[in-house]
Amino acid sequence: MTRTSEQGEGKLARVKVTRRVHFSAAHRLGREDWTPEENRRVFGDCSNPNWHGHNYELDVTVAGEVDESTGFVYDLKDLRDTVERLVLADVDHRNLNLDVDWLHGRNPTTENLVVAIWQRLTPALPAGVQLERLVLWETPRNYVEYCGE
Ligand code: NI
Repeated sequence: MTRTSEQGEGKLARVKVTRRVHFSAAHRLGREDWTPEENRRVFGDCSNPNWHGHNYELDVTVAGEVDESTGFVYDLKDLRDTVERLVLADVDHRNLNLDVDWLHGRNPTTENLVVAIWQRLTPALPAGVQLERLVLWETPRNYVEYCGE
């Protein structure tokens, strides 16, 4: 039987879909093996000993073929639920240095945070759906982007 689709010759469209989520968290950047002066010089206000907060925005993009029966790549409600369960439940309104097991021992820069989130999410997606890109905004002016290795 020949499969046909609007894209022709049995080729299904590969589409990227994105869910944006938000969380607020406290952190402090620094290295324990550096002096407070060195940490202040490198990490600035983010090395403030008594913590400070950020309002993060996270864009989670997955890619896959459009399912012929649903017309979805991946139900965005399921994507939201996965991100809430594996990431937001642990980080929202928490202290990234103290409260999050999977960040333990990592300096919680936006770069380290986005890689850790990638490692949390990528094994949790169903077959045929790939994590494509994460964009993590720490402020309205600064973001990091990670697309895996
Ligand atoms: Ni900061």
